[in-house]
Amino acid sequence: MSMKLCIIGSGYVGLVSGACFADVGHQVICVDNNQRKVEMLLRGEIPIYEPGLEELVLKNVAAKRLRFTTSTEEGVDGADVVFIAVPTPPQPDGSVDLSYIEQVAREIAAVLKKDQYRVIVDKSTVPVKTGEKVADTIRRYSKPGVVFDVVSNPEFLREGCAVPDLMKPDRIVIGGNSERAVAMMQKIYEPFMAPVLVTDVNSAELIKHAANSFLALKISYINAVARICEASGADVEKVADGIGMDRRIGRNFLNAGIGYGGSCFPKDIAAFIAISDHLGEPFHLLKEVQRINAQQRERFIDRLRDKLWVLRDKRVAVWGLTFKPDTDDVRSSVAIDVVRDLIAEKALVTVFDPKGMEKAVEFKLIEGAHLATSALDAVKDADALVIATEWKEFSAVDFSRVKELMHTPLIFDGRNLLEPAMVRALGFDYTSIGRA
Ligand code: UGA
Repeated sequence: MSMKLCIIGSGYVGLVSGACFADVGHQVICVDNNQRKVEMLLRGEIPIYEPGLEELVLKNVAAKRLRFTTSTEEGVDGADVVFIAVPTPPQPDGSVDLSYIEQVAREIAAVLKKDQYRVIVDKSTVPVKTGEKVADTIRRYSKPGVVFDVVSNPEFLREGCAVPDLMKPDRIVIGGNSERAVAMMQKIYEPFMAPVLVTDVNSAELIKHAANSFLALKISYINAVARICEASGADVEKVADGIGMDRRIGRNFLNAGIGYGGSCFPKDIAAFIAISDHLGEPFHLLKEVQRINAQQRERFIDRLRDKLWVLRDKRVAVWGLTFKPDTDDVRSSVAIDVVRDLIAEKALVTVFDPKGMEKAVEFKLIEGAHLATSALDAVKDADALVIATEWKEFSAVDFSRVKELMHTPLIFDGRNLLEPAMVRALGFDYTSIGRA
């Protein structure tokens, strides 16, 4: 059954969710207070790069199931369910800045009408107990007689495969304390034919932070194992395969590298630490996860410095700027940190990324770096090549050509993208993570 949905916030989560909800037949209106963004969307331009998203948006706009507006009133007025999908950025102490959520809750409260039942859904990643605060805020700022329920429905999509993640999720979590609201949410998700877990609001909120923290824990675990592999001559890829074949563990998220980044893991782990501290149950294990993650990059730069001896004035080519492949997102990217570390040591850095150059330049994240036009262009006369993001197209580059173009054939592979035997056979001095 088609439902009328309003999504407030047209970032990764809001826009992809809106497009997917429309695609399964719901009537969706996306609200964003950024006029430029809404104008772009109305012109059919997609402000982010996400495989499959553009087609999905255009198709559903043409079918009149997906609309865009800057007006919260217009969005909320005709909707059965209102999703909040605005940013929840970190504060300097790691805790979450909830001011956008509070602002939206107040805007919704101002336009809710008497006797028109509405479900307000929190889709943004928020600390446990935020649902209670949203409900209190709406109650305080709305007219008497307004009826609503607040639901938590965390989103588990990954950037780069957001559309398939949303269309075919492992699970849908609906946290609600009212049967009426939960039943409406179940209807929305019926067409997705995915397992649904119904919980109370607090548990749903916790599931999101606990899930991201566990995934980050897996990454730091394998990175710690990688160090032992380096010290003992073992191969971390083989070790990950061996432990990952145990279905209780699983092979996913056991790829060693220079650490996790992006707009979610660093922020969410810091937030979960802050939340647990606040609740009087400090989560020390997660502090170690953070420590191992930060050290991965430092150790990588140390090894590069050891090899090149002095980094100053050395020509270093860096392939990769985005926090992972198949996205143009450079927020909290370890690759960017590597570039900045090298520039800080006065190395002459040339960068190339298939999708991340524009945003890295726009946000002034790589000032002082030279911009190459291709992967091969970047390695001309380089003393070393650093692979910082595992774009598939990098492994398809002609490495005999790379060797001819480089000044000295040194590769530092921070993502274990290349086959050691292949590059060594070509005469490269090759260093990767946790592999001899
Ligand atoms: C992550 C979660 O995977 C999603 O389920 C969640 O919905 C999302 O955060 C969110 O909270 O919104 P995302 O940040 O898009 O998704 O990217 P991931 O694919 O999880 O990668 C995060 C980082 O971990 C990347 O820097 C990646 O390079 C790194 N990583 C991942 C590793 O270093 N090793 C691995 O084995 C896997």
